[in-house]
Amino acid sequence: MFITFEGLDFSGKSTQAKMLFEYFNSRKIKTILLREPGGTEISEKVREIILDRQNIEMTPLTEFMLFSASRSQLVSQVIKPHLKKGYIVICDRYYDSSTAYQSYGGKLELSNVLKVNNIASSGLKPDLTILIDITPKQAFKRASCRNSKDRMESKDLTFYNKVYKGFKDIAKKNKNRFLVINGTLSINEIHTMIINTLSAKSKISKNII
Ligand code: ADP
Ligand code: TYD
Repeated sequence: MFITFEGLDFSGKSTQAKMLFEYFNSRKIKTILLREPGGTEISEKVREIILDRQNIEMTPLTEFMLFSASRSQLVSQVIKPHLKKGYIVICDRYYDSSTAYQSYGGKLELSNVLKVNNIASSGLKPDLTILIDITPKQAFKRASCRNSKDRMESKDLTFYNKVYKGFKDIAKKNKNRFLVINGTLSINEIHTMIINTLSAKSKISKNII
């Protein structure tokens, strides 16, 4: 099973991805936790370039190509081999982030972004995508508690409003794989909702979680 987490920066994705990883681990279910951009030596190097605040001249297309390059490496080196070995793969962000940030936010042509997403992921689609839904205003409130921001986190509210609309649209268009959760609920409430959804899904597919 391939599970991805999506949402705005500070929505609480990483917290939930880690909790889910620990939940599976405690039940001795083989699981790996990854993040995008990153997850392999090459992808982590690409991540540094993308997030470096000094790279102010980076064009939206270059940025998108770098995210895609990082993803392509992660999919072939880590995700696909682990799925083959029967692992549950949890990824903190995946190609829906490119659609929301680079197309809806960065104004790259949607059909081109979807095409490259499909190429970079070798057509590998998540079985479940959990969108932790908080508004840009709520995200900015949480972000204000942090002093240092990377290049991506330094974008303005107008940009994040577009990204937010993007995530909502993507979820609407892909209802069969998306679970949208109100990210202002408590950390434990959100975790419980995720577990409940997964156990309902596994009963349907006769897997034991
Ligand atoms: P992301 O990976 O989406 O950027 P994090 O999981 O790192 O988000 O969380 C961002 C911040 O918000 C952290 O300080 C975290 O403790 C806090 N946080 C996470 N989930 C919640 C929640 N449900 N309610 C309130 N604060 C939260
Ligand atoms: P990160 O520090 O991992 O943020 P978060 O904890 O919120 O995931 O930084 C990743 C940043 O890159 C984040 O601002 C979202 C952005 N991003 C894209 O713009 N496109 C993408 O395809 C991906 C994977 C991430």
